[in-house]
Amino acid sequence: MAVRKILTYPDEVLRKPAEPVADIDGRLQQLINDMADTMYHAPGIGLAGNQVGAPCRVIIFDVSAKDEPRDLCVVINPEIIESGGEVASEEGCLSVVDYSAEIKRAQFVTVKGFDREGNPVLLKKEGLPAIVLQHEIDHLNGKLFIDHISRLKRELYKRRLRKKLKEKRPRRL
Ligand code: NI
Repeated sequence: MAVRKILTYPDEVLRKPAEPVADIDGRLQQLINDMADTMYHAPGIGLAGNQVGAPCRVIIFDVSAKDEPRDLCVVINPEIIESGGEVASEEGCLSVVDYSAEIKRAQFVTVKGFDREGNPVLLKKEGLPAIVLQHEIDHLNGKLFIDHISRLKRELYKRRLRKKLKEKRPRRL
């Protein structure tokens, strides 16, 4: 178990589509355990494999309330097979520092994939878990939530981030 480093925009790894998982082996279980540690530590409610530099199609999420017991959900090779409706909500991302924006998503989705034991799963979700599933599956396809906002808003964010990174850079004497 270990907390891994979360890659942040504009890291190019986040832009590469992740590869399907071929073997659900010990290495993958280790990755899932580390991803859970990393997500809860952050804290966040969802994480995709490529966010911790593992370019494979695994997502995890936990949308349980703070006063409820943890409810970790793992989906390997997730695929949206049905979606409908529309909902707009404020989204942020562990890989997009200091930014959130209102994003339109499908209101409900049906996702198929496998659990960590390799059993096929079919998730029918609405509301927050549906939004999280779409957000995390976007990650596996190299897409970030800021790709859903207007070009102008994205440029403003990039400018702000560049400024921030510049300020952070230590002076070389
Ligand atoms: Ni994210």
